[in-house]
Amino acid sequence: MDGAAQKQSEKQIGKMRAEHGGIVVLDFGGQYTQLIARRVREQQVFSAILPCTVSVKEIRRLEPVGLILSGGPSSVYDKDAPKCDPAVLKMGVPVLGICYGMQWIAKEMGGKVEPAERPEYGPAQLFIEKTKSELFKDFPWSMKIWSSHGDHVLALPEGFHATGKSSNALASMENSAKGIYAVQFHPEVNHTERGTEILRNFLFKICQADARWSGAAFVEETVERIRARVGPHHAICGLSGGVDSTVAAVLVHRAVGNRLTNIFVNTGLLRKNEFEHTLEMYRERLGLHVAGVDASKHFLEKLKGVIDPERKRKIIGNEFIAVFAAEGEKLQREAGGDIRYLVQGTLYPDVIESVSVKGPSATIKTHHNVGGLPEKMPFGLIEPLRDLFKDEVRKIGRDLGLPEEILVKHPFPGPGLAVRLLGEVTSKDLETLREADAIVTEEIRRAGLYEKVWQAFAVLLPVRSVGVMGDGRTYGLTVAVRVVQSDDAMTADWVRLPGDVLGKISARIVNEVPGVTRVVYDISSKPPSTIEWE
Ligand code: XMP
Repeated sequence: MDGAAQKQSEKQIGKMRAEHGGIVVLDFGGQYTQLIARRVREQQVFSAILPCTVSVKEIRRLEPVGLILSGGPSSVYDKDAPKCDPAVLKMGVPVLGICYGMQWIAKEMGGKVEPAERPEYGPAQLFIEKTKSELFKDFPWSMKIWSSHGDHVLALPEGFHATGKSSNALASMENSAKGIYAVQFHPEVNHTERGTEILRNFLFKICQADARWSGAAFVEETVERIRARVGPHHAICGLSGGVDSTVAAVLVHRAVGNRLTNIFVNTGLLRKNEFEHTLEMYRERLGLHVAGVDASKHFLEKLKGVIDPERKRKIIGNEFIAVFAAEGEKLQREAGGDIRYLVQGTLYPDVIESVSVKGPSATIKTHHNVGGLPEKMPFGLIEPLRDLFKDEVRKIGRDLGLPEEILVKHPFPGPGLAVRLLGEVTSKDLETLREADAIVTEEIRRAGLYEKVWQAFAVLLPVRSVGVMGDGRTYGLTVAVRVVQSDDAMTADWVRLPGDVLGKISARIVNEVPGVTRVVYDISSKPPSTIEWE
């Protein structure tokens, strides 16, 4: 293992020690690996994903009550096919192999795996064998499943028996004496009937797991762990105004109080009143110790004359780091050099690469908000949310008593309004965009849609068109309104807003925002468009 991967792995394990009695998901690189881990947590059993290449010793330190081997895109006969240490099958805890996980088990234990004549992708039918499998306890003899495999198990390893078949492949097998179970299909996806029951049977009947992982337990254990790690020292955290960094900061604050100093930078690219409003919430309602840094003039200066979207993003990213680092150094002097840790609100989707099948060789993706900081400033990283998904973080936020407004806040890009204002960023245009954007948000809220859509915002276009107001001709700017629905921002669709909501937004923008004479609605999906315009 190289140094970075080793540290990464230690960090994961450090976290897990407090969460013993859970499930370790070993990742073969499958597209559903995260979903498996999450389905387990939905049953109040802690789970964490580790690369398939970790050692048994490392897994043991987590004290899991069971292992799940994920699916993966490879064939077990590929030259670079990912592998676990075969000793994971003899650790004394039950193992469930899913898809590639099943094929790897079959091959490893002396069975035979071959490319299927007819690969199965999508829906299939499972026929359960008349054996008493704990995995399928009291199930009907046939049900719908979801598959995604090109290879299949042709010959069972010794000691195994088939527990289910699909119309053209072995669908499941087990060796209950050895505690090894495997399914060729995906119980973690919704399309598989009784998939949750299969996972529950594995967790509770086979692994005898306790359903004791909850938001409250997570908070308690995380706070304890952070307290132990930081000891008497200090930490800093960059706040963005979003839910992730806020939840991370509140957790650390619970652990070390005002020895955590937060930095909240006003780039001048935030939404209307956002800086003042959020700063007040941080300080007054959450009791956080926050240094508010107004660098708006500095950012505007740096963006002068810049039109290219990528250059805008780069400049903002670099300047953010520079401002953060300067503030950090100031705080470091005040703390007498005792700031040892940097807190980040990194979520699981941000770190997929670091826990992927590539394992030891994986590059670690740092969060965009403070990307690059750890190299520049020699801090230990504290990322309390790195195993969680956005909705799990919201739930933790609720358990922590965070105001609802921050929990349901729409995502906002790091470079802020600069990427929603096409062309050069000027203070006049920022002002125009802020007003138009506030109207969009207000009307979406008024229509009861704010919490139902992924994002709703305004974009200012450098397109002038002729209009008429009163008796005069106008030649004003155009505002595009963008409202999208999405699950994960990877794909998105435009929202079919009711005509009267669109009408109100349009009328208010042209009447209330000086210089804007036309409003258009963006009806592009992602792909091929993106959510943000730049
Ligand atoms: P796109 O425009 O790529 O955006 O479809 C996908 C999601 O990511 C948000 N976004 C960002 N978030 N820093 C962020 O924290 C960024 O630089 C950034 N750029 C886009 C965007 O708002 C959407 O939710």
